[in-house]
Amino acid sequence: MYVTPPKLSFTTQVLPLPYPKEDFTGKTVLITGANTGLGLEAARHFVRLNARKVILGCRDVEKGNAAKRDIEATNHVDGIKDPARVEMWQVDLASFDSVKAFCERAAKLERLDIVIENAGILGMTYAEAEGYERITTVNVISTWLMALLLLPVLRATKDKFYAGSSPESQDSDVPHLVIVGSNAHFYTIFDGRDAPSIMEHYRGDSDMFHRYANTKLISLFFAREVATQILERKSRGKSEVVLNVVEPGSCKTQLLREKESWPWAYKAFVTVGFGLVGRTAEMGSRTYVAAASAGWKSHGLYLEDCKLSTPHEFVESAEGAKLQKKIYGELIEVLEKISPGVTENI
Ligand SMILES: NC(=O)c1ccc[n+]([C@@H]2O[C@H](COP(=O)([O-])OP(=O)(O)OC[C@H]3O[C@@H](n4cnc5c(N)ncnc54)[C@H](OP(=O)(O)O)[C@@H]3O)[C@@H](O)[C@H]2O)c1
Repeated sequence: MYVTPPKLSFTTQVLPLPYPKEDFTGKTVLITGANTGLGLEAARHFVRLNARKVILGCRDVEKGNAAKRDIEATNHVDGIKDPARVEMWQVDLASFDSVKAFCERAAKLERLDIVIENAGILGMTYAEAEGYERITTVNVISTWLMALLLLPVLRATKDKFYAGSSPESQDSDVPHLVIVGSNAHFYTIFDGRDAPSIMEHYRGDSDMFHRYANTKLISLFFAREVATQILERKSRGKSEVVLNVVEPGSCKTQLLREKESWPWAYKAFVTVGFGLVGRTAEMGSRTYVAAASAGWKSHGLYLEDCKLSTPHEFVESAEGAKLQKKIYGELIEVLEKISPGVTENI
């Protein structure tokens, strides 16, 4: 049973997206998975657009340092004066301790204006990381562990530098937490939806073909609930920050790096499809800059093609609303075991 009628956006795939012109002067931007692909190109945009500090969160130190040098070299002509503006920080989302150490370091920043949680993997072979299936660990558990650990840092930045901004003001100049989603969530059999525990179901090796899409769907549900909670907690004296989910479109990156192990028909389909209509990483990365400056109007919402969009109708259905609560409760339980008290950060 498919959750979806498939969503095909071939037209927007091949049309150019608006070239980012926003100004990020003074801001600190953190992007995970920034050594290659969409993360690298987004980081390059933020440096060009005057961010005071751009932190590349990278699993591999050598690749991360190479990315830093690459950004500094290509931005030189645009007037980059202080190469220290780009920093490479190691983080491995397959390790909860690594994520925690990374966030502890980030908590010492003077300010943190934009977090783009971009690091992710697409695979079909089963392997474990931290006792969970590795794609679930990286794309869901560690992504949200990091998000909740960084929320107080974004909030503190909001209180210090953006005191006048609020959902009522509807401006775009406010700290943003951007979670990278995917339209793959339109194409999944969400096989765990009726399982007594969805997180336990995805700890195992069921339906690895749709695993990536399922992780993006779970993350989307969780994002929507956290966004709701962020607004509700204002009554407890907590300030709000913008949380949104961005789909970059199908892009020619290293995301398909494991495709040799895929069923041949699917491999052929994606190879031809991405070859014909795949965006360059730079084009796709424009969606990140748009999401990071979309403002309050994007809170809790889904963006694609550099504008507000809608997720699959199932996500917004009555059944989806129930699943959203269930997923939230289950994932919070997992996160609380990894970092007791983390729920209070929302
Ligand atoms: N490309 C597309 O068509 C497309 C479409 C929709 C959504 N997305 C999403 O866009 C995001 C970026 O993907 P991409 O297309 O740019 O793919 P990519 O070129 O493969 O880049 C993925 C990045 O994530 C990093 N990463 C993977 N596992 C990690 C871990 N355990 N810890 C830290 N970093 C890790 C990778 O680091 P290493 O290089 O060291 O492995 C790399 O920097 C992903 O979340 C993906 O799901 C992509």
